[in-house]
Amino acid sequence: MNMLEVNGLRVSYGGIQAVRGISFHVSEGEMVALIGANGAGKSSTLRALARLLEPAGGNVRYRGKELLQVPPHCLVTEGIALVPEGRGVFPRMTTLENLYMGAYARNDKTAVARDLEHVLGLFPRLKERAQQVAGTLSGGEQQMLAIGRALMSKPRLLLLDEPSMGLAPIMVQKIFEVIRTVASEGMTILLIEQNAKLALEVSQRGYVMESGEITVTDESSRLLADPKVRAAYLGE
Ligand SMILES: Nc1ncnc2c1ncn2[C@@H]1O[C@H](COP(=O)(O)OP(=O)(O)O)[C@@H](O)[C@H]1O
Ligand SMILES: [Mg+2]
Repeated sequence: MNMLEVNGLRVSYGGIQAVRGISFHVSEGEMVALIGANGAGKSSTLRALARLLEPAGGNVRYRGKELLQVPPHCLVTEGIALVPEGRGVFPRMTTLENLYMGAYARNDKTAVARDLEHVLGLFPRLKERAQQVAGTLSGGEQQMLAIGRALMSKPRLLLLDEPSMGLAPIMVQKIFEVIRTVASEGMTILLIEQNAKLALEVSQRGYVMESGEITVTDESSRLLADPKVRAAYLGE
């Protein structure tokens, strides 16, 4: 079953069309990568799905529902969680407070406590830094926290915007290990990355975005082997 079905999505900023009628889908339990150069329209796509901006056109079906009819503030309870580019943790709150913020819309206390243990198990570093204010965490730790906070909302669909951006290779490796684990536990994930190699290595299918349009789509393993994709996005 398709968890997410995007048809003809358009995003404009004033007169500039950043997303030009793209269509794609994500099946339940699948990890799908959206790759493309800087400025291709990847973040705009995600921001439109998370309803941080109103799309200029198109429709989005989410679990059989017309997503664009759902009020933006209801997306969290619908099970959609965005980890935005730049992470967006609350800098003056502690790690633990940030994680609890992720669960603000939930009232199942026992399950929240269990999920907190699970997140701290995924990211032992966050457990060590539980009482530290988030603004003083390293970039990699903040990315872990942003992902952990999203998981605390108990999402059905996780939207990740460039989790590797600006991080040291060792941190990128750690974070992607967790993304793999979360995916293997059955989470549905739409992953945006400029690091195409990494994204295609962890995902099942991928879409290539260029200048606001999807130009290529295939299984990730085939995209990884595609000479054109390799030349354009894998630095070969
Ligand atoms: N807030 C904004 N106002 C005006 N133009 C924007 C804004 N955000 C993004 N854009 C433009 O939209 C296009 C797509 O940007 P973006 O979605 O951020 O691409 P990507 O995430 O693939 O790097 C770019 O040309 C960018 O300059
Ligand atoms: Mg972006």
